[in-house]
Amino acid sequence: MRALTVQPGTAGTAQLEDLPDPSPPHHHMLVEGLAIGVCGTDREITAGDYGWAPPGRDRLVLGHESLGRVRQAPSGSDFHVGDLVVGVVRRPDPVPCGACAHGEFDMCRNGRYTERGIKELDGYAAQLWTVEQDYAVRLDPRLADVGMLMEPTTVVAKAWEQVDAIGARSFYDPQRVLVTGAGPIGLLAAMLGIQRGLDVHVLDRITAGPKLDAVTALGATYHHDPVDEVAGKLQPDIVIEATGAGSVVFDAIANTAAYGITCLTGVSTPGRRLSIDAGAQNREIVLENDVVVGSVNANLRHYHAAADALDQADVDWLRRLITRRVPLEKFTDALTAHPDDIKVVLTLS
Ligand code: BGC
Repeated sequence: MRALTVQPGTAGTAQLEDLPDPSPPHHHMLVEGLAIGVCGTDREITAGDYGWAPPGRDRLVLGHESLGRVRQAPSGSDFHVGDLVVGVVRRPDPVPCGACAHGEFDMCRNGRYTERGIKELDGYAAQLWTVEQDYAVRLDPRLADVGMLMEPTTVVAKAWEQVDAIGARSFYDPQRVLVTGAGPIGLLAAMLGIQRGLDVHVLDRITAGPKLDAVTALGATYHHDPVDEVAGKLQPDIVIEATGAGSVVFDAIANTAAYGITCLTGVSTPGRRLSIDAGAQNREIVLENDVVVGSVNANLRHYHAAADALDQADVDWLRRLITRRVPLEKFTDALTAHPDDIKVVLTLS
């Protein structure tokens, strides 16, 4: 079977390899890989800036936004041949830390967690892969061509859970959310906001194209003015930040309503310096009981929440988010970002 592999730490090493078909260990399933979603993390790994190969090896099978079909399931399993499944990205650290011991591996405290396709575990960009039954989630068959959006949806399901948990510390009646960045994470965060009945606003730099159309089709309001102006007028109760751009982050934090919650989901590149009025920022956060929280990855609870959110979603709207489907042989195209991309998908079969 063919797989897309990379040598983490070295740019330009992505290549297709013929690897032996995997045979599933005990309690594992054998899955036919249908597609993977490509995200900024995959591009960072192929640029040599992130990622770790499995111990004792140089190369890593890429891919963490999975979608596959069960080929073989252990007898007595809840899964059946033909089920549409997604594999979970992260595994608990081996110690384990308290969070990992409680199934909250997304909150790992010692950093020794592993991640499929990212950190020390082979990913899902393979025509066949295996997965532990406990780390696979079944999807509704109607999601057959969009199910690779599950993993980014888990990331925003977790982000929303953080916002809810923080909001619940006192009286909480949020009305308005501003999502910064209209990429897949921003758009899926906006979808969850709409599903919660909130007044959803999405801000990005572009002035036309599929991102703007997706926002409008969702029933949210699109903005492309500077974030301090937009947030200054809106005074959002919640900001879900999905650009990772320093100036957007700080302008958003400075312009929330009182008791505002800003949830940061964008992983930024280090070394970008910015001059900010630290006194004003701190004063605003303190005087308004604001919270800024970072959120990464997702545990099984978030996978189930994401599956529910996708069940409620309009599949045609989800299809809009996939702006390119690229066959495995053309992986270089998939790994190259185009200006109008929302989600690029690599098809595996
Ligand atoms: C993935 C997460 C992962 C994070 C850090 C993101 O792209 O979606 O699952 O935890 O990268 O490695």
